[in-house]
Amino acid sequence: MGMEHLSIDPLTELRRRRSAKWRTFPEDVLPLPVAEMDFPLAEPVAKVLREAIDRSDTGYAAPTPDLAEAVRNYAWRSWRWGIGDGCIRTVADVGIGIVEVLRRIVGAGDRVVISPPVYEPFSWWVREVGAHVVEAPLAEGPGGWRLDLDALERAFSAGATAYLLCNPHNPMGLVHGRDDLKALADLADKYGVHVLSDEIHAPLVLPGAEFVPFLSVSDEARRRGFAFLSASKGWNLAGLKAAAVITADPAPKRYVDRLPPHSLYRTGHLGVLATVAAFNDSGPWLADVMDTLDHNRRLLDDLLTELLPAVRYRMPQAGFLAWLDFRALGWGDDPSAHILDAARVALNAGHRYGTSGNGWARLNFGCSPQTLTEAITRIAAAS
Ligand SMILES: Cc1ncc(COP(=O)(O)O)c(C=O)c1O
Repeated sequence: MGMEHLSIDPLTELRRRRSAKWRTFPEDVLPLPVAEMDFPLAEPVAKVLREAIDRSDTGYAAPTPDLAEAVRNYAWRSWRWGIGDGCIRTVADVGIGIVEVLRRIVGAGDRVVISPPVYEPFSWWVREVGAHVVEAPLAEGPGGWRLDLDALERAFSAGATAYLLCNPHNPMGLVHGRDDLKALADLADKYGVHVLSDEIHAPLVLPGAEFVPFLSVSDEARRRGFAFLSASKGWNLAGLKAAAVITADPAPKRYVDRLPPHSLYRTGHLGVLATVAAFNDSGPWLADVMDTLDHNRRLLDDLLTELLPAVRYRMPQAGFLAWLDFRALGWGDDPSAHILDAARVALNAGHRYGTSGNGWARLNFGCSPQTLTEAITRIAAAS
């Protein structure tokens, strides 16, 4: 294993991709925003997709247990997390899974808690079902970011129906510790709050951190919790549309059982095929990706220290996203606007992750070390 095995296409090739990352900005912009990776597909995934295309096999997803079995086996192999029979439901993507579950547990005007800075669509999903967003921001201490359990208790005790947990937490790649997850589950149980745990980045937890599935921490977590998992971030399959909703107790499972029967047919057939190949057969590829991401998160640290020492950065514990504090540079609430304009590098605007993100930006380092170096060099030249 090692980076030499992951040969990343040059920019001229990548620019031929038709996905959002490559179609949103003009040619002279280096795109490091939307959460797609620049790596080549895992060969087992590419193979099942090629074979399906060769068979003109592009109809509906079949009602088979394949995806559930792949998820169950992967969760056991990776985290010793045992998921029960019949406890995995297929949906088109994590966003749809969360919205469909929320529809069944919240009424109009109910309050749903999130912890900014967090993945922007969390607040969209809450509003989509007619509920109100309540913020219990993460706390940043000398040791890093954490759930603020006091803020969560205040929000829960004031009357909340659900909490959207992001584990690992996008945008800073925070992997929540077992004690915090247990304490969260206790609070949720005490105040009758449902916890929807978005675990989409879990396959990308990097060396030094341990992923703890929310439903594995306690009976309280299982009583209150739903988990959402897919291969779309780990294996870059977001366009193919397949994800899983997981429960571990009859009470939350009853809500999932009420999802529309059509949710299976709304799931992408190619997505199911690719997800099964990813979870079952693409471990060596993922290990190479992790080597590259581990290298890139350190390279980013070195580049910032050397070229942009005023930018504050904590190395993420998971994923390919870095949360950067540009406030010392005086580029205003949205440094990404200045960076796009002056450096021709696209990042995500931090203020979109909640007001605590003013002055910050999110950078996607799921790219080659050369692209990352070029991006930071360009931003430094614009400072
Ligand atoms: C935390 C988190 N949840 C969900 C998604 C989107 O997942 P999906 O396309 O399956 O809705 C992303 C994408 O970046 C994400 O970072």
